[in-house]
Amino acid sequence: MKLSSIVVTLILTVGVSYYVYTPLPAAIEEPLKLMLLDALFRAMMQVGDLCQCLGLSHHITVIRGTISGLESLGEIAGGQRGGVRVSDVDFDRVPVRVYEPPAAGGGEGGLRRAVMFYHGGGWALGATKMGSYDVLCRQMSDELNAVVVSVEYRLAPEVHFPVQYEDCLAAAKHFLEPGILGKLSVDPQRVAVSGDSAGGNLAAAVAQQISVDDSVSVKFSVQALIYPVLQGLDLNTPSHQQNHNIPILHRFIMARFWLLYLGVDTSLHPLLLSPSFLHHPSIPPSVRSHLNWTTLLPAKHIKHYKPVGMETGSQEVTGQEGDLLPGLLDVRAAPLLAKQGVLGRTPRAYILTCEYDVLRDDGLMYTRRLQDAGVTVSSRHYDDGFHGALSFAHWPFFFDVGKRMIRGYMDWLQENL
Ligand SMILES: *[C@@H]1O[C@H](CO)[C@@H](O)[C@H](O)[C@H]1NC(C)=O
Repeated sequence: MKLSSIVVTLILTVGVSYYVYTPLPAAIEEPLKLMLLDALFRAMMQVGDLCQCLGLSHHITVIRGTISGLESLGEIAGGQRGGVRVSDVDFDRVPVRVYEPPAAGGGEGGLRRAVMFYHGGGWALGATKMGSYDVLCRQMSDELNAVVVSVEYRLAPEVHFPVQYEDCLAAAKHFLEPGILGKLSVDPQRVAVSGDSAGGNLAAAVAQQISVDDSVSVKFSVQALIYPVLQGLDLNTPSHQQNHNIPILHRFIMARFWLLYLGVDTSLHPLLLSPSFLHHPSIPPSVRSHLNWTTLLPAKHIKHYKPVGMETGSQEVTGQEGDLLPGLLDVRAAPLLAKQGVLGRTPRAYILTCEYDVLRDDGLMYTRRLQDAGVTVSSRHYDDGFHGALSFAHWPFFFDVGKRMIRGYMDWLQENL
């Protein structure tokens, strides 16, 4: 080999290693795999940003295209589940994918359990047909002998809040109609609502609305929330501080998803992340108490973290918050802010949280608020978990912790639905 090619190889190796390397907590298993996955996501975002800068296309379009390209490369193995029947239909004009287990062997009188599922992806990415979600829904249908309905709600940037929520709510109301449940042989006493990440946000918000809507006679019997997003007013909770740079949901990406969801200008990014934002005078103290982590979180999760931004007060107020606050204060976008009376009417809950996730404290605070309202909550915390792990349980990106999460989630539904 010529000296020049050795030098080039060396420079490339160092460059790639530098790009891929991210310091990770020791508790995270399979760190190299996670670094590679994170580098891939970062590269996707950067290419997306570049394309958007050049006026070629929206960065989200680029990321969606890359994800589906990668998916078609690695056709997910093990996706076929015996007799599960899949059909794509509309529920009150909202496209849904319905998974039905083989007809025989239901419970009482042949009636089956059911799960309404909302996929994650920051209200902007993901799809029912996406490999990991499709496989998960098939597995649920097969193992639980349940009818699973996965909702193809519309996404940002094409639409923004409250459209995603309204699509999910419309699909839920349609599904819960006694005639529809009857047609699908579903036991009306055993219908779950569930979702991961932004899907967990939608599931929590829809569960609240269904619980208090007297025009809906059949209610969800359980809610299963997987590392849900539950508020956007305080992006400086201990978990946001601790995990701001942990793959794959970096804190600045979470803030970007909020802006996309609310359909507000990206120039508000610094304001949303600013520690003083929570202390804005137009946020009522009662709302602030609903996400006050100094009182809602257990000490072992607060660790050494302190509230930030108190000193600066509202000095940084810029007048732009008028675009942000109405959405962030709306319980349909931020279910953690619901009144206790509403929370108390929501169904029994399963809430999965990960130690290495900016959203950890959203889930833990919701757990506490639901419990204070008298709701039974199974809180499952993964000490070695990171955000999104559940979507990475299959080739080419599989993590043992993702497999364990799926197992735990299935087992809980098996016993509690
Ligand atoms: C949270 O509660 C504590 C104790 O009641 C209080 O001192 C603090 O000011 C509250 N924080 C916010 C942001 O409201």
